[in-house]
Amino acid sequence: MRPLIPRSAYFEDEAFRMERQSLFGRLWQFAGFATDLAAPNDFITTEVAGRAVLVQNFDGELRGFANVCSHRFSRLRCEAKGNGKLRCGYHGWIYNAEGIPYSIPSRPRFDALKDRAEVARLALRRYDLDVCGGLVFVREGAEGEGDSSVPGESLREFLGASFAPLEQMSLALGTPVSRLDVLLRCNWKVAVENGLEAYHVGFVHEETFKPLEMSGMDFRFDGLHSSWHAPVEASTASRLGRLVKASRMPHPVPGYVHQLIFPNVTVSTLCGATFGFQVLRPVSPVETQLTSIVFLSRMKADAGVQEMVHSALTESTAVFTEKVTHEDRVVCEAVQLGLRDATQPGILSEEEERVHRFHAAYMEQMSTSAASHPLTHA
Ligand code: FES
Ligand SMILES: [Fe+2]
Repeated sequence: MRPLIPRSAYFEDEAFRMERQSLFGRLWQFAGFATDLAAPNDFITTEVAGRAVLVQNFDGELRGFANVCSHRFSRLRCEAKGNGKLRCGYHGWIYNAEGIPYSIPSRPRFDALKDRAEVARLALRRYDLDVCGGLVFVREGAEGEGDSSVPGESLREFLGASFAPLEQMSLALGTPVSRLDVLLRCNWKVAVENGLEAYHVGFVHEETFKPLEMSGMDFRFDGLHSSWHAPVEASTASRLGRLVKASRMPHPVPGYVHQLIFPNVTVSTLCGATFGFQVLRPVSPVETQLTSIVFLSRMKADAGVQEMVHSALTESTAVFTEKVTHEDRVVCEAVQLGLRDATQPGILSEEEERVHRFHAAYMEQMSTSAASHPLTHA
């Protein structure tokens, strides 16, 4: 197998701009967790195609809007999450569930705001929003500037066969035990591809993943998305299996499962005991913001058992995640350095089939909406 994505797409500004338009400005994007939006006025912030977006609970209804005030463009929400009316911190405009400012201090002094229609024209730009279990997704709406050539595709259609397992996993999330925000000096695709193969595990993750002996090539492909299902080393599997059973975790999994939600989110679980989310947001052609959050599973057992499981898994999971993230960062940044100097096309093995399929999905999506500016092989 050969790579399909041209090398120039890993460092050139034009490819980066086209990705924003053709992928991130068009497809559903993971925004955050419904648990952070459970109460009225809860909000989270995210980004879509490089633009700041907020999601807010308006009396039980979740809405996504551009995170920029219509008055003089202050960012409305600067925190990652919180609670409060959607009020601009600059001159105090307050917005309703339609994104329309319903409270404007000293409104009579705005000569252009004499009637409701004029105020309604100041509505915040709305984003499509939908949920898969406890996961919130947003998408640039029809009025956005993205090339929305698949406007009718629902989140369920977009996720396809991945919807149900993702929904089940999301409903099993318990306490977060690790959160890392790291700026990687590599293109976002380098980091995604690194997560799609275990060929590097023996060399790069000698003391972390390697002892888990995850093996096999049970790859499953579903449209743009893919997953890997691997057995893990017997004593680890039975130890975790016992913890899952004793604490009555709701989503036992035999071994390790790693899912790609195209294009830039991965979700993994080890035996249904821990669940990891990785979001790889493009910052520039050669920089990527990694957000990695690992949760323990929910538990239905009594408090004493839960406490025992917490102390068995919390610290070790956090240390493991930090070490793996550092190990992957080093190799991803080395790949980025090499990409510019390469003079031959690379090559992929059977173990890297998910990388190949990612390339195919990427090229298909880019050509779907950018047929007039096809990428050419460098
Ligand atoms: S910029 Fe938001 S109220 Fe003035
Ligand atoms: Fe890795």
